[in-house]
Amino acid sequence: MTHATKPGTGPGTASGRTGHAVRLGGVSKAFGSGPTALLALDNVSLDVAPGEFVCLLGASGCGKSTLLNLVADLDKPSAGTIDVGGARVALMFQEPALFPWLTVTGNIELALRMRGVPRQERRRRAGELLASVHLSGFEKRRPHQLSGGMRQRVALARALALTVDDADASRGTVLLMDEPFGALDAMTRDLLHDEIERIWRERNLTVLFVTHNVREAVRLGDRVVLLSSRPGQVVEEFPVTFQRPRRIDSPQVATLSAAITDRLREEVSRHGN
Ligand SMILES: Nc1ncnc2c1ncn2[C@@H]1O[C@H](COP(=O)(O)OP(=O)(O)O)[C@@H](O)[C@H]1O
Ligand SMILES: [Mg+2]
Repeated sequence: MTHATKPGTGPGTASGRTGHAVRLGGVSKAFGSGPTALLALDNVSLDVAPGEFVCLLGASGCGKSTLLNLVADLDKPSAGTIDVGGARVALMFQEPALFPWLTVTGNIELALRMRGVPRQERRRRAGELLASVHLSGFEKRRPHQLSGGMRQRVALARALALTVDDADASRGTVLLMDEPFGALDAMTRDLLHDEIERIWRERNLTVLFVTHNVREAVRLGDRVVLLSSRPGQVVEEFPVTFQRPRRIDSPQVATLSAAITDRLREEVSRHGN
């Protein structure tokens, strides 16, 4: 049995669906120039459909963060095109990067202020966002008074705050997540997998989730896109069709993860990393 499809032909890609939330066409990214240039991404094409949850999987150093930074428009590709339509884009990293001197509410309100939300509305919206990540009651704490998992919940609420824009509710939201749960213990990570899945559904988000954890990718993704070792290229896509919510320790997740891991190993050894 094979789960694989050729890049760009799987049921999760934009072919057969209308439109895309994110489209990368032949994206390459080199750092530096001349003989010392380092090619991080090589001709990556990828469509993410509106509302889709796509996990990008690859060995460390293969260009995953580089790719997310390009989608977030924090950096420019050396070649190729990136299109996020009119979507709002939010980014979340492995480190929560909260302001330590601000309370939980203060961190969220600052993000809302940057979005131009009027002062009298910020408190209410911050309260709603914190409730949606199950942090009601912790509003007055400072980051150092929270566990790692709670800090990532605040970071998630803040990422969502940056997408608040009532003026045009039809604009979709693309949430880019760069190994957001990589520093957490397994139990906390499990809980946050449930949470992000719920929030993705409730808010109708499009998620591009980067990880080097195969099981995490299969637990969460509608589709797992496997990148080669540097320079990153899409080598294979694996649609994940079994029912949600999935347990990370379920036999189905384990079986597909094993197949993907074999493919990933092949890739890594081919590149001699
Ligand atoms: N700003 C930069 N300047 C030079 N090299 C970079 C820069 N950012 C990333 N790289 C290199 O590009 C490659 C891909 O990095 P990165 O996207 O961070 O990988 P990943 O997130 O998959 O671990 C690595 O070899 C890294 O050293
Ligand atoms: Mg990275």
